[in-house]
Amino acid sequence: MKFDTPATTNPIDRMRVVGQPHDRIDGRFKTTGTAPYAYERHDVAPDAAYGFILGAGIAKGRVAAIDTAAAKAAPGVLSVITTLDMPQLPKGKTNTAALFGGPVIQHYHQAIALVVAETFEQARDATSLLRVDYAPEGGGRFDLAVLAPSAPPVPGDSGEGSGGPPEDRTGNFEEAFAQAPVKLDETYTTPDESHAMMEPHASVARWDGDHVTVWTSNQMIAWGKRDLGITLGIPAEKVRLDSPYVGGGFGGKLFLRADAVLAALGAKAVGRPVKVALTRPIMANNTTHRPATIQRIRIGAGRDGKITAIAHESTSGDQPGGQPETAVSQTKLLYAGANRLTAMRLAEMDLPEGNAMRAPGEAPGLMALEIAIDEMAEKLNLDPIEFRVLNDTQVDPEHPERPFSQRQLIRCLREGAERFGWDKRNARPGTRREGRWLVGIGVAAGFRNNLLQKSGARVKLDAQGVVTVETDMTDIGTGTYTIIAQTAAEMMGVPIEKVVVRLGDSDFPASAGSGGQWGANNSTAGVYAACVKLRDEVAQKLGFNSADAVFEDGQVRAGNRSVPLGEAAGAEGMVAEDAIEYGDLAKKEQQSTFAGHFVEVAVDAATGEVRVRRMLSVCAAGRILNPKSARSQVIGAMTMGVGGALMEALSVDTRRGFFVNHDLASYEVPVHADIPHQEVVFLDETDPMSSPMKAKGVGELGLCGVGGAVANAIYNATGIRVRDYPITLDKLI
Ligand code: MOS
Repeated sequence: MKFDTPATTNPIDRMRVVGQPHDRIDGRFKTTGTAPYAYERHDVAPDAAYGFILGAGIAKGRVAAIDTAAAKAAPGVLSVITTLDMPQLPKGKTNTAALFGGPVIQHYHQAIALVVAETFEQARDATSLLRVDYAPEGGGRFDLAVLAPSAPPVPGDSGEGSGGPPEDRTGNFEEAFAQAPVKLDETYTTPDESHAMMEPHASVARWDGDHVTVWTSNQMIAWGKRDLGITLGIPAEKVRLDSPYVGGGFGGKLFLRADAVLAALGAKAVGRPVKVALTRPIMANNTTHRPATIQRIRIGAGRDGKITAIAHESTSGDQPGGQPETAVSQTKLLYAGANRLTAMRLAEMDLPEGNAMRAPGEAPGLMALEIAIDEMAEKLNLDPIEFRVLNDTQVDPEHPERPFSQRQLIRCLREGAERFGWDKRNARPGTRREGRWLVGIGVAAGFRNNLLQKSGARVKLDAQGVVTVETDMTDIGTGTYTIIAQTAAEMMGVPIEKVVVRLGDSDFPASAGSGGQWGANNSTAGVYAACVKLRDEVAQKLGFNSADAVFEDGQVRAGNRSVPLGEAAGAEGMVAEDAIEYGDLAKKEQQSTFAGHFVEVAVDAATGEVRVRRMLSVCAAGRILNPKSARSQVIGAMTMGVGGALMEALSVDTRRGFFVNHDLASYEVPVHADIPHQEVVFLDETDPMSSPMKAKGVGELGLCGVGGAVANAIYNATGIRVRDYPITLDKLI
């Protein structure tokens, strides 16, 4: 189904099942431990052997030799595969650093050997017996602050986000900035961050002849299938990936990783299934991370508070051939201003690969921009909400002929202000004290684009009237199973209990996958398309005019005839498959999601300890398909925002080139005790430009801007402006 004109009224608008706060249909499996994760697939590979990965102990250089004799002689060992056994394996289309093969070390903890044994303990023990001779190379590039001044501008397209060129100019920024009576020129920094999802990367591989099946934990099944085929040098048709349950990803599982490649190689070598997990200590350096940024922001405004000039430049690093963090993308769209400049620079580095982590671009970009906006408001003696309202724009500021399809930022801020008690905020920082605590509140705008991706699904109807949906879409803890069931139930006019959802198998139609908060809208729109086709086929079979057929209460009706769906399907059942495909609607109108984030903090006046007291996010993100699972997404994102503001940072050893804190004991994320009451409000919105579902994403919006709101609240509490994340207590005393 081609979606190229705005959505009109359709069966989803009935909102009998869609839009209801339905419990997760997979919730019981998860809470009872019966949802099998990749490492637990004993059902498909009861005879699996265990593989253990050795990561490189240097960041740059070569492996000269690996002595495997002791490991091979260790109890239970079935095979030892080293990176010297083969040339560097071809890289898939999505990874920058190679995953295995050849002597060259591109980054610390790059996989250089796999030991396969009868048990996990035997494999781990034998791995410790491998003797590696390295030929380290000097000149490792590990310190972004040192590299940034000579980092070149990024050529070509800026990738995810708004997709503009590296240096975008509108009007004449320099001239307008020079003339502005009120101006700001500050630099903000964000650190490297790790996805730190609960379920580590894990795979079980089994060969059947020249076909390989990999039960794995991956967000993007079609990418993974393609890239595993490329890496193993076999046609994609001979690769099957299956990932029905994913214990979190946050972008770390968008790509093929070493666990899947090495499980496949190990299984081939020993002639039986092999399972491989990335253990927690090697995840931070073996996989991808959100790269650190250095962001310079300049804003000029008239005394009336209107922005006349705005510039945002970001520098980040990556492996050779990698991409910049698109931290300037929201600055192209969020505030008005006639004279604009955005640019990115990319430093080649020898740290592990930088790549997407939840809301790549906007998440670190807004951590900087929303402090800058708070600072400008203060310089102008304006309330920070009023300053944002004054500089709202209903059109793309770089292309004024393009309106936003929906933009309710002002309502998000106003409604949030009222609910949060913004009028009680004292604009003078450091003036509210409760005993030893300095108390402050802060606000930030939230912004994240809505991206449209082709997404397919198959829908079956059986003689019992059961509707089964199959798509390679994944549920990474987001609630996909449930919103897809709701969509199919609404479309076919059956209760949700009559819908079975099967996800994550590459034998199913290819979907948009889970990334960039595009999963919910696109994957349900794909199910919508397949259901439209199935409805047409049912109507046709019964001799109904398709436009007259009403699907309701498990029946299909037209005129005065009513047929139970199961009867219509007959003994053989019926099946329809289709995909949603998008025309160029997104070019005509800018599709984005908006939020107002509010945070209250208390800061210990003596120690600088920050406690978050209250949080509220008001979101405008199209139709909310399930307010319960959407709220869960947003409170999880708000929690990640607190982590980014106060705790999360990979510490770089700039001499040896690795992330030092590579476990959950030293890479700090918020725990329950750190997070107070969180409130989430969704504004009423339907966006007919986004898809027939009229929905958008919220999973990343809930993070975007939260860090800035925390920083602004800390400033309001203490009068100390910290521009370097995370805001740890040493920066406040
Ligand atoms: Mo998201 S970083 O695209 O999983």
